[in-house]
Amino acid sequence: MAKLIIQQSPSLTGKVRISGAKNSVLPIMAASLLAEGESEIQDIPALRDVFVMQELLENLGASTSWNGKKGSMKVKADGLKSYEASYELVRQMRASFLIMGPLLAKMGRTKIPLPGGCAIGTRPVDLHLKGLAALGAQITQEHGYVEAYADKLIGARIYLDFPSVGATENIMMAAVLAEGQTMIENSAVEPEIVDLANYLNAMGANVRGAGTDTIKVTGVDKLTGVVHGVIPDRIEAGTFMAAAAITKGDLFLENVVVDHLRPIMAKLKETNIHIEEIENGLHIMAKDRCKAMDIKTLPYPGFPTDMQAQFMSLMTIAQGTSMIIETVFENRFMHASELKRMGADIKIEGRSAVIEGVDRLTGTQVKATDLRAGAALILSALIASGTTEISDIYHIERGYYKIEDKLRALGANIERVSE
Ligand code: EPZ
Repeated sequence: MAKLIIQQSPSLTGKVRISGAKNSVLPIMAASLLAEGESEIQDIPALRDVFVMQELLENLGASTSWNGKKGSMKVKADGLKSYEASYELVRQMRASFLIMGPLLAKMGRTKIPLPGGCAIGTRPVDLHLKGLAALGAQITQEHGYVEAYADKLIGARIYLDFPSVGATENIMMAAVLAEGQTMIENSAVEPEIVDLANYLNAMGANVRGAGTDTIKVTGVDKLTGVVHGVIPDRIEAGTFMAAAAITKGDLFLENVVVDHLRPIMAKLKETNIHIEEIENGLHIMAKDRCKAMDIKTLPYPGFPTDMQAQFMSLMTIAQGTSMIIETVFENRFMHASELKRMGADIKIEGRSAVIEGVDRLTGTQVKATDLRAGAALILSALIASGTTEISDIYHIERGYYKIEDKLRALGANIERVSE
């Protein structure tokens, strides 16, 4: 299995281009099933999850073609021949569940394994199923599979108990071809929801209010494939912002949507990091050791849960005591035990973590337990004395395209070795 070997590195400096957003690409690839004719999705990072989704679409009968040079994927989903998703693929990537809404809308039925939990939580899909049932789907669950069937989907008024990103996306994708009007209330407002709605509308859908907590969808008869460029990855951008902060670096981030980064910018400014907004980019300068701060993760536009681990790394060497409260997932502190092996002083109590800033961390062997935990370990390894070896980096490679190359170009001493 591959590993990352990271030596203590100098302050990071230079320019880094942020890739397209993983959490936008995946639902948009699922939504391409809804269309007649070909879609071309652009600025796609070559991540493992993207190719799992591509295989899923191919297994359903869609024809796809990946252009590695352009970072674009063509999908033609006319004449789908299956409505089933294999356990093997869904097991690898929970976002596979996002094909449920499109298949119900396009084919009137689907059979898909219940995605299991993962390191950060049980990840139930009850809100997805409740919304699809409200649109008229007959849903049964047995032997670990969900089967759904709908002669016709009828628009409905749906209230989400929690502003779930995935549930909002699945319901929106089912509703675009339903008869009549659907209201999704208490919907997620993440930028990736807006990106998906923009793609659906470009294909001929009628989705209004994406980005607010009430989305109104008026069903149409058909959608036609289009070209769509996905938004930049705000979490990759945030991760490099944290890298600048932890290494007291000076970085220019290219290809960002500044508005999507405001929650992260606000927290970094609290710790005396200087941030300048530039055309289509951000300039981050961190001269001194950052100050401690308190963080509470919340659905957008609150501080993103996907940045919690990276900021915990930053807080382990901050001046003072920090408190992190993780309100979105029930088990998203797996990185704490790995950071403690590097000398961090962290106390976990349920969904709260208290971090006492220490003067230095020490490199050792650690393992990535999930995608963002892995990113957090990279950040700590950059400033830890000596050498850090990170194993199970397949987690990291799910969400970060060539992160070791991007970091090395900024001055990091980082190598990817396959064992
Ligand atoms: C999306 O996951 C992202 N993944 C996650 O990013 C992100 O952490 C999460 O949204 C929150 O922002 C993709 O977009 C592919 P949720 P999703 O449904 O849709 C509970 C990363 O690191 N819930 O908003 O699964 C759930 O248990 C990944 O890139 C229900 O109870 O997130 C969780 O506590 C990790 N019932 C909370 O809602 C449901 O039916 C948020 O989940 C659905 C969710």
